[in-house]
Amino acid sequence: MTGEKDIEEQLRRLRDELHGHNHAYHVLDQPTVSDAEYDALMRELRALEEAHPELVTPDSPSQRVGAPAAEQFAQVQHEVPLLSLGNAFDDDEFMAWHARTAKSLEVDGFDMACELKYDGLAVALVYEDGGFVRGATRGDGRVGEDVTANLRTVRAVPLRVQGKYPRRFEARGEVIYPKSKWHKLNEERAAAGLPLYANPRNTAAGSLRQIDSTVTASRPLDIYFYSLGWAEGWSKEAPQTHSESLDALKGMGFKVNPHNRLVKTADQVLDYYKGWLERVESLDYGCDGVVVKVDRLDYQRDLGQVGREPRWAVAYKFPAIEVTTKLLSIEVNVGRTGSINPYAVLEPVKIAGAMVKQATLHNEDLIRQKGLRIGDTVLVRRAGEVIPEVIKSVESKRDGSETEWEMPTACPSCGEPVVREEGDAMAYCVNVACPMQLQRTLEHFVSKGAMDIDGVGEKQVAIFLEKDLIQDAAGLYSITKEQLLDLERFAEKSASNIVAAIAASKEQPLARVLVALGIRHVGTENAELLARHFKHMDALASASQEELAGVEGIGPVIAETVWDFFQNAKNRDLVKRLAEAGLQMEMEAGPEGPQSLE
Ligand code: IVH
Repeated sequence: MTGEKDIEEQLRRLRDELHGHNHAYHVLDQPTVSDAEYDALMRELRALEEAHPELVTPDSPSQRVGAPAAEQFAQVQHEVPLLSLGNAFDDDEFMAWHARTAKSLEVDGFDMACELKYDGLAVALVYEDGGFVRGATRGDGRVGEDVTANLRTVRAVPLRVQGKYPRRFEARGEVIYPKSKWHKLNEERAAAGLPLYANPRNTAAGSLRQIDSTVTASRPLDIYFYSLGWAEGWSKEAPQTHSESLDALKGMGFKVNPHNRLVKTADQVLDYYKGWLERVESLDYGCDGVVVKVDRLDYQRDLGQVGREPRWAVAYKFPAIEVTTKLLSIEVNVGRTGSINPYAVLEPVKIAGAMVKQATLHNEDLIRQKGLRIGDTVLVRRAGEVIPEVIKSVESKRDGSETEWEMPTACPSCGEPVVREEGDAMAYCVNVACPMQLQRTLEHFVSKGAMDIDGVGEKQVAIFLEKDLIQDAAGLYSITKEQLLDLERFAEKSASNIVAAIAASKEQPLARVLVALGIRHVGTENAELLARHFKHMDALASASQEELAGVEGIGPVIAETVWDFFQNAKNRDLVKRLAEAGLQMEMEAGPEGPQSLE
């Protein structure tokens, strides 16, 4: 029979191994085993713990599932208060902070740690003898809520740390809800008719502050650690700088952001700021600025704080991307497929430097779910290159004069009926010959990701159609400079530029031509897959649904829409005339032969 000591040893081994795999997957993003192997180890651990419940410890990897908790969160007094941050809103304000700080320190320059400012929920986690013992929300900075059970379910929170660590310490960080997963969650909620979440930050906070931590366990929360709150009992020399303390945390297995930078000059900070201002949307979490911290801890001590704000750090905020304004009306336009797309007409408002007058509303159901009424004060978001979006109504601002919106029953372009089929999110104009559909199809054809015809956009397409210069995309290729000049809408130079740009587009590769055709689901990526596989438009046009679905990366749904497209005689005729006009119908052989994927 196996002795108690052996079992303990076996449990320790299993737990260590699982902690290691967990760290590799959730902190380093470099999995060391397959999910199946991980699950098998976890099952082994659970079986052993079930047989020996007295040996279950709170830091066991099996304890991440959460436990139905008591009625309320206990209050936790932070041993060292969590501070706030002073803000800078432009370069001058940041430079003023830098100059002031240098003057106080009586130095010309000082090292600074540049970090992202996460838009999540601040937490402080206490570790004793290498184990996670208590975690709390920031609260008012002095007293927070005990969310230990919930934090244990967050995969990137180490339940036990590795390597060398102080006997007692506090790691501080920000809990975030990954944006990609948040969008998915909201899509699922929309489909299920549930109210939508306003933003990832609120969802992160809501998920962490669940009385029942099994709910938290079901949410894909993540965390970045940005400081060592306090520490006692170092087994090696204590860090002398902020960046060294982050390195120490990283060494213990905490997730520290890879985008942190240590810089020497204020100009380098401005570069870091500008770089992230442009790229912030590429992050999978909310980020509303950068945080700049004096790196040397002795300097931090010398500088001290004013009120709750340390003099040694500053948040240089990005311009707000969410603002409120009035929803003046809801209009619709007709899409390429005949879909009737509602959009918001807004009282013009400046968001992150750009004037916003319109915002997308997607579809009827989303308008209902967001409870939007005409005349409402609404929260509008504009981020990066993304089309502005109405997030929600501010219900407290209503005065009773607001009105509900109804989907129009007739197409605004051709007056034919608008129909919404059961199970469809979108309503459509029933008229396949609706002039607006053709306009949109052509706008797509000439657009950047398709044939990329410079100088031809919405306005020019509308003129060509109105003046009967073209009936479809192939018509573009027989437009002459003289025709354009005759219209008296184009000057000599713009007329020759347009004709040249149209001619140049004939060199666009097969994949671009496929995108330009506007087949549903065939964007850049799928077009590349199809072009590479079939190499010739004719081969693609005559492929069976089975052949299409057999292409790596192309599923049955795409296969069907592509097949459908080429079954239509009008579409085949269009492709034929585009070929006659001289567009690329064959994939060019690369330097390493036609198979080259690079
Ligand atoms: S350091 C100086 N670093 O900002 C002490 N805070 O206004 C401040 N925050 O609620 C903490 N990203 O949760 C620090 N990289 C970062 C941060 C960060 C976001 C939050 C923090 C706190 C607030 C302070």
